[in-house]
Amino acid sequence: KSLTIGLIPADGIGKEVIPAARTAIEAVGSDIPPPKFIDLIAGFESFTRTGVALPEETVEALKNQCDCALFGSVSSPSKKVVGYSSPIVALRKVLDLYANVRPVVSVSANPGEQSLIDLIVVRENTECLYVKQEQQIVGEHGKEARATRLITERASTRIGKMAFELALARPRKHLTIIHKSNVLSITDGLFRESVRAIPTNDSKYEAVIVAEQLVDSAVYRLFREPQIYDVMVAPNLYGDILSDAAAALVGSLGVVPSVNAGDTFVMGEPVHGSAPDIFGQGIANPVASIRSAGLMLRHLGYTRAADRIDNAVDSVLREGQLLTPDLGGSAKTQEVTEAIVKRI
Ligand code: NAI
Ligand code: MG
Repeated sequence: KSLTIGLIPADGIGKEVIPAARTAIEAVGSDIPPPKFIDLIAGFESFTRTGVALPEETVEALKNQCDCALFGSVSSPSKKVVGYSSPIVALRKVLDLYANVRPVVSVSANPGEQSLIDLIVVRENTECLYVKQEQQIVGEHGKEARATRLITERASTRIGKMAFELALARPRKHLTIIHKSNVLSITDGLFRESVRAIPTNDSKYEAVIVAEQLVDSAVYRLFREPQIYDVMVAPNLYGDILSDAAAALVGSLGVVPSVNAGDTFVMGEPVHGSAPDIFGQGIANPVASIRSAGLMLRHLGYTRAADRIDNAVDSVLREGQLLTPDLGGSAKTQEVTEAIVKRI
């Protein structure tokens, strides 16, 4: 049997870093079934070329042929373009990838040592303001824009359970619920209550220590004392912002991986975007994508392969000889990738 992996580089530096992740997967050899890669199309470039951002063939291949997938990054115009909507947001929906799991880990000084920052942001992936129900009207005092924010008990409970599971598997077993229910008592209140109810209804989660924090002070504390956090669970928008902020603590967006996970499918994806400012120069940091490949394999149960990828990345970063410019070095994507692959 083989492991069929859909590759969707999409736009910008996604095209430079997804091939790097592919080489890393190929390097783990017999720790996974022989990998089979299927190249798939999506993105803004596809939209401008063909009028379709997420071709039906891509969705079909992911659903019917792939065991898992890796997604690069999309370029989204900040002004509304008629007919375009982000394919990554759509993919999360059609594949029911309701959790975005983003580990943010600093590299320890010595191999095997505890990292100073070692946290996971678990972001709800399907609702909140990202349901994109926006409208603009001309009111009495000029233009008015509104957006609907959807929070459901079902989605909050399933993301909460995923967060409890992840916390349970970690040494500290600590979970912080992020919300703003002092202001948004109905929507954030429902999120908070739904997650709070999980250990009450299922005793296996009683071992998890639960804390909560308002999102604004969570960002403040994240910057001042990041070591207090273990697993953080948040509604979609807060989770998005928190995880980019956390990325700053470990040096660069270019090193932070994620997976989009559902009950039956998993898709690795670097946290960063398409980085038009550096695209085409061959200097994008491949680490976020290579780690995303490792995280994807870990979610599928290939722990040894995932450990080998993480250890190889850590070793290259720790040594500090081959770093891309975002980390203060002058190495190229390809050089960093080759060094990591050699160590895998
Ligand atoms: P960005 O993440 O693309 O870039 C932010 C900054 O980080 C830039 O200076 C960039 O050069 C740097 N950076 C990001 N990844 C890097 C890497 N691997 N190596 C070295 N440096 C890296 O975010 P930005 O600039 O806000 O957005 C650019 C485009 O990406 C927009 O069209 C946006 O919509 C899209 N985007 C897509 C995402 C996705 O595909 N999930 C997520 C975030 C943004
Ligand atoms: Mg983001």
